[in-house]
Amino acid sequence: MDKLIIRGGKQLKGEVSISGAKNAALPIMTSSILASGRSAFARIPDLMDVRTMGRLLSNMGASYSYNEGSATIDSASMNKFEAPYELVKTMRASVLVLCPLVARFGRAKVSLPGGCAIGARPINLHLMGLEKMGAKIRLESGYVIAKTSRLKGASIYLDTVTVTGTENLMMAAVLAKGTTILENAAREPEVIDLANCLISMGARINGAGESVIEIEGVDELKPLKNYAIIPDRIETGTFMSIAGITGGDLVLKDCRPEHLDAAMMKLKDTGVIFKETKRGLRVIGPKNLIAKDVKTIPYPGFPTDMQAQFMAMMTIAKGTSVIKETIFENRFMHVAELKRMGADISIDGGTAAIKGVEKLRGAPVMATDLRASASLVVAALRAEGETVIHRIYHLDRGYEKMDEKLKKVGADIERVKG
Ligand code: EPU
Repeated sequence: MDKLIIRGGKQLKGEVSISGAKNAALPIMTSSILASGRSAFARIPDLMDVRTMGRLLSNMGASYSYNEGSATIDSASMNKFEAPYELVKTMRASVLVLCPLVARFGRAKVSLPGGCAIGARPINLHLMGLEKMGAKIRLESGYVIAKTSRLKGASIYLDTVTVTGTENLMMAAVLAKGTTILENAAREPEVIDLANCLISMGARINGAGESVIEIEGVDELKPLKNYAIIPDRIETGTFMSIAGITGGDLVLKDCRPEHLDAAMMKLKDTGVIFKETKRGLRVIGPKNLIAKDVKTIPYPGFPTDMQAQFMAMMTIAKGTSVIKETIFENRFMHVAELKRMGADISIDGGTAAIKGVEKLRGAPVMATDLRASASLVVAALRAEGETVIHRIYHLDRGYEKMDEKLKKVGADIERVKG
């Protein structure tokens, strides 16, 4: 298993190119199931999760190829409508094949994802919506088996705002007979990106990005020739935290700051400076960060996917900050590791209190999930001495060439293969 060795304390300076968004790439790849033929997508990041999705689609008979950000998926030859446990257990987003399969082929067998490090993460709302649209669903030996002749439009209220739930049901509705209304839908930029992709394929969708989405089903969709996905807002935010904690000066190229309003407002309050420039968004870290409180909320609120990185910044801020995690029940796995580096953090349920310390010290630490690993990188870049981050396959699931990007802006970072 690869590990990262980081010797902190460098002021990072230079340009960082932001990659395509993992959480837009995954649903958009599965949207190719909805139209028979060859779809091509651009700006797909070279990540473990993207490779897993490619394997899943190939497993179902589609032909998949990837080359430097361009992914081609030909779904004409699909002949197996199953997402097996072996793949779903390595990537929960595999569940995004469920609704496209049912919408186009009238059947699917998808392993239930089960819990993960950050929470129980059920998919009851995906199933409730699909059932309302007329699919017959049964659970058998850990699998969801769904069947229907053709889905019908329905009015669906989602009790909890769910990103992949909204995406899955939107993909069910585009080929259903009649109109579907999704209420309390997720408003994330990745939902809008998927809707834009589906609209380019011929779907009729209104309101993506708002909490009520109306979808009028069509009989057929056409494959897309070249759809470029949005930049990764969480990678952007992670590099903002890195500039912030190292007192660095980074220019983030190819990013969309408007997707990060809440996070940027918080970072500004901590002392981080943003400047729009011709080359990209310049982010300047202050000499001393100021402690600020944060509560995670579905978009447009402060993203749960930025909570761990923000916490890493707060470990050395002046004062005490209180961070409330409201989306996932177990998303503080990074706390124990940050404490190994000298952070002063106490947890009470979903709330963490972080008392800023003078300095962090390098230590051996363990990555437990994707964003927790990112927070360890953020902290290690500031810590005195050497930090060894184990199990960085978590990081590789969602960050494209992070170590190379950091090295280019002056970080002392080394990947040790193992
Ligand atoms: N929920 C239910 N029932 C459902 C679906 C969700 O109770 O049927 C609950 C979840 O347990 C959670 C809340 O609703 O408490 C929100 O979960 P959501 O469904 O929105 O999460 P997700 O769609 O599984 C996506 C991202 C996550 C990100 C969350 C929240 C993808 C592939 N994943 O997950 O990304 O944290 O939305 O923004 O889009 C990451 O990239 O590190 C990551 C975990």
